Amino acid sequence: MLGYLYPLRTYFVVAGDIEKPNPMTADWVIPLSFNPPLLGVAIGKKRHTRKLIEKQKDFVIAVPTVELLKDVWTAGTLSGSRENKAERMGVTFVESKKVTAPSIKECQANIECKVVKQVETGDHIFFVGEIVNVSHGDGFVDEKPDIKNYKFLMHAFSGKNFTYQSDELIKP
Ligand SMILES: Cc1cc2nc3c(=O)[nH]c(=O)nc-3n(C[C@H](O)[C@H](O)[C@H](O)COP(=O)(O)O)c2cc1C
Repeated sequence: MLGYLYPLRTYFVVAGDIEKPNPMTADWVIPLSFNPPLLGVAIGKKRHTRKLIEKQKDFVIAVPTVELLKDVWTAGTLSGSRENKAERMGVTFVESKKVTAPSIKECQANIECKVVKQVETGDHIFFVGEIVNVSHGDGFVDEKPDIKNYKFLMHAFSGKNFTYQSDELIKP
């Protein structure tokens, strides 16, 4: 029934550390508060990422563009409990400024979060993260996405079905 909420934007949630990063793909990411700056991500109870975040109490939401689609698929279909996904991907992991979880150099934004709350929501754990630092590339100017020049990734519907936002702006 949640399919009716799609298309949704797609992100990486990065946990682990610079020695052993564990990126996973997530559509279920949502802004929650301006002040303090909070966002939430729902992570399936069985995910390796859930275990890592519960332990380290931080994570990074990294914002991919369409060029990273292959890596998005890898991070969303392999589990860090069985293999080192980072080695199977083409992206570069770099130290974040304020959290243990690494950032992804090729992403247009890396939003560093510290866990302030976690709530069990059915078969997922909803992690509330306070944003403690953001680094970004040219895909954002004044905290606004440059949709003319960058194609931010969206999941159109379940499976291998992706799209990106239009560069057309319409006004109400
Ligand atoms: C496009 C896409 C979006 C996904 N969104 C989520 C999500 O929001 N939450 C979630 O728990 N899993 C989501 N998944 C599934 C996880 O990314 C997948 O189970 C992954 O292998 C978990 O890795 P881990 O075990 O290393 O944490 C998504 C997968 C794909 C391909």
